[in-house]
Amino acid sequence: MGENHHLIERANVEQMKNKELLRLAQTLKLSILDRKILREELVDKIMKEIDFRNEADGPEFILHTPAINIESLIKRFGKKVAVWGLNLQVNPGEIVGLVGPNGAGKTTTLRILTGIIKPTSGSVEVNGFDMLSDPIRAKSTIGYIPEKPTCYPSLTVREYITFMARIYEVPAEVALVRMRQFVDMFQLDEFLDSYIGTLSKGNLQRALLVGIFVRNPPYVLALDEPIYGLDPRGAWNLKAYLKQLRDEGSAILISTHILEVAADLCDRFVIMNESTVVGRGTLDELLASQENATNLEEVFLSLTGGIPQ
Ligand SMILES: Nc1ncnc2c1ncn2[C@@H]1O[C@H](COP(=O)(O)OP(=O)(O)OP(=O)(O)O)[C@@H](O)[C@H]1O
Ligand SMILES: [Mg+2]
Repeated sequence: MGENHHLIERANVEQMKNKELLRLAQTLKLSILDRKILREELVDKIMKEIDFRNEADGPEFILHTPAINIESLIKRFGKKVAVWGLNLQVNPGEIVGLVGPNGAGKTTTLRILTGIIKPTSGSVEVNGFDMLSDPIRAKSTIGYIPEKPTCYPSLTVREYITFMARIYEVPAEVALVRMRQFVDMFQLDEFLDSYIGTLSKGNLQRALLVGIFVRNPPYVLALDEPIYGLDPRGAWNLKAYLKQLRDEGSAILISTHILEVAADLCDRFVIMNESTVVGRGTLDELLASQENATNLEEVFLSLTGGIPQ
């Protein structure tokens, strides 16, 4: 931490296409008098202007601790109890795995956390703001990838990312650089001008991720099975980037039942079964509490119905 979050690295500018560099120069209101300018010189000019603006930037933005605070959460759908008395905190600099079998209440928890549905009782705070009484501020730092991604079908990927940047008040020049950075990271270049409605499931998920990462970190992330739809390279890139964000102070809550992903990525776990928490802690703590378990899978099985013989 301690870095300026508006900081644009030279390497990120260098990866931009020529057309995008010219857009960026325009956005920065650089006067380019030569009819022909070397790409390298243009990058120099852009970096000079960006460094100048970085210095004028405000203080670094740090999340409230805990960044996610769920207390005594209960959710009923009619007679069905989906979440029963959940307490869950995530601090800045942590990735927490919410794991549990089908129907345990993971998606319901994330939908309440992001303000999509209301709890029956209990409270949810994001970055110190109450989701019920202060939803706009609570939602301003949260990034959500739903279990079944949906999105404006008639926007192109580029339009959607630009739209997200505007809503979250990201400066236009920062948005241009970040769009290229994450479109490359998630290999979306080919689809930048495709309509969202035509994307495959995995590519839609990638577009939604870029729509989050175009914003200024640190983030509070609620990711529902984010790895599931991605191919191995997409999954690897996402995992590596989530770890970097964690190290830079983001707070990340991930629901998954892919336990290999959870074990590799998460600092600690909350295990749910049939709406209640049946175990929590780091992998070592969970292993110590279940003497017949040797890995996360066996901890999971023994806490959620027993290890099959
Ligand atoms: N809108 C709804 N109306 C009625 N019941 C619901 C609704 N949403 C969820 N439920 C029920 O609440 C319980 C928890 O569902 P939830 O989707 O949170 O589980 P999950 O842990 O995400 O499962 P999965 O691993 O399959 O995604 C389930 O029994 C589900 O059928
Ligand atoms: Mg779910």
